[in-house]
Amino acid sequence: MPVDIIVGAQWGDEGKGHITDLLAAEADIVARFSGGDNAGHTVSIGPKIFKLHLIPSGIIQERTICLLGNGMVINPAVLIREIEELERNGIDVSPERLIISSSAHLITDGHIALDGAREAARGADPIGTTRRGIGPAYSDKAARVGLRAGLLTQPDKLKEAVKAHISEKNFQLDALYKQESLNVEEISNQFLSYSERLRPYVRESSKILWHALDNGQRILAEGAQGTFLDLDHGTYPYVTSSWPTSGGALIGLGIGVKSIDRVIGVAKAYTSRVGSGPFPCELTGNMADRLRGTGENPWDEFGTTTGRPRRVGWLDLVMLNHSLRLNDFSSLAVTKLDILSGIEEILVCTSYRHNGKQIGDFPLDLSILGAVEPVYEVLPGWDQDISSIKHFDDLPKKAQDYVNFISSSLNIGVTYLSVGPGRDQIINRLDD
Ligand code: GDP
Ligand code: IMO
Ligand code: MG
Repeated sequence: MPVDIIVGAQWGDEGKGHITDLLAAEADIVARFSGGDNAGHTVSIGPKIFKLHLIPSGIIQERTICLLGNGMVINPAVLIREIEELERNGIDVSPERLIISSSAHLITDGHIALDGAREAARGADPIGTTRRGIGPAYSDKAARVGLRAGLLTQPDKLKEAVKAHISEKNFQLDALYKQESLNVEEISNQFLSYSERLRPYVRESSKILWHALDNGQRILAEGAQGTFLDLDHGTYPYVTSSWPTSGGALIGLGIGVKSIDRVIGVAKAYTSRVGSGPFPCELTGNMADRLRGTGENPWDEFGTTTGRPRRVGWLDLVMLNHSLRLNDFSSLAVTKLDILSGIEEILVCTSYRHNGKQIGDFPLDLSILGAVEPVYEVLPGWDQDISSIKHFDDLPKKAQDYVNFISSSLNIGVTYLSVGPGRDQIINRLDD
């Protein structure tokens, strides 16, 4: 390594947790660098399915240390629930294995209430947020009025800070949104109990990473969300409030450029999106139902965090090409190839058409992006069940052609290919 970064190449839910679980086997530390419990990362180990929202997916591997980086926003109540759930499943989540950056920010009931109120105030044009308080928590961070996790180690200061914070949120909730007030005393007492529980985990995280790098340890940076949800580079305002792109890993962990070895972009073999905003290759009707599934299978396209049906569409190479430039991917991990088995003709978007003109570049102007029509290449599908195939050369020729088409169109290697949600269902082409 020393540092590999895993980044979602599309709009999130690409299967980052699955790929993280594979690569975590080789890592000493797995660190999340952005987002909060808006993320939902799934790791399937045999019959067990772990849905992680805050804790890096590396926690499932026995020997890795996991770190919640300074770039994250953390709801302490959710984190405590997640720790307890993992412990019930026999996973060690002691402070020896889990580190919370003292510079990460805390999400409160005030942020959550504001998130809901702001969404409701947008009426017919909501962002479609997860309503986990993400936007308001990052807004407070940028406005320099946020609550940092370091406060969890100073109960007296914490109590006063939470009281002042909730009082201010009550003022906003009432004045701007005519919402009921939150109970200042009750919430500040809750935060005292969070402090009691989480205090041993809070540390100055960047120094731990530098020390690990000095000692030749390997760090895996696990991204959350996806490139097109990036606050700067995504489809603003239909984005999240953090930087899920590879640059975000450096800021969100406090490490330098020179330590980066690989940036692995995770892309689904098709596309999905939860929430509002433009989606050029979106499908409706039978093919959308086919890709989404009914919700019967754990991998069907329903949000891991909110349960909302995901919007789905064909693979969009215009988007992926843009993603490649933004993140400087070293290679791609393509997931859910098995979902395409049995589809007679698979479409792949290779350019857009706008006002009669063909465009190969991803337009940043939403009024253009919302109006483009995808130009598709039609590729023949395959019938065989590919979910137990271990080597690329054993895939049906048409499935190989599909992956090679992606690879040659984008001029990048597909090093990992996932054919099912299980730990043994990733073809690692570096081993082939
Ligand atoms: P993340 O947010 O990027 O970690 O992705 P999610 O966990 O939200 O969503 C991906 C879903 O697809 C999860 O249910 C995974 O278990 C599942 N999954 C990942 N890779 C594959 C695959 O290759 N095939 C199938 N069928 N499911 C997969
Ligand atoms: P993982 O890590 C998919 C989307 C929301 C909404 C927008 C803003 O599992 O890939 P927010 O609550 O962040 O303010 O919502 O971002 N979103 C995600 N979509 N996967 C995610 O995470 C997401 N995290 C946020 O649906 O459109
Ligand atoms: Mg997810």
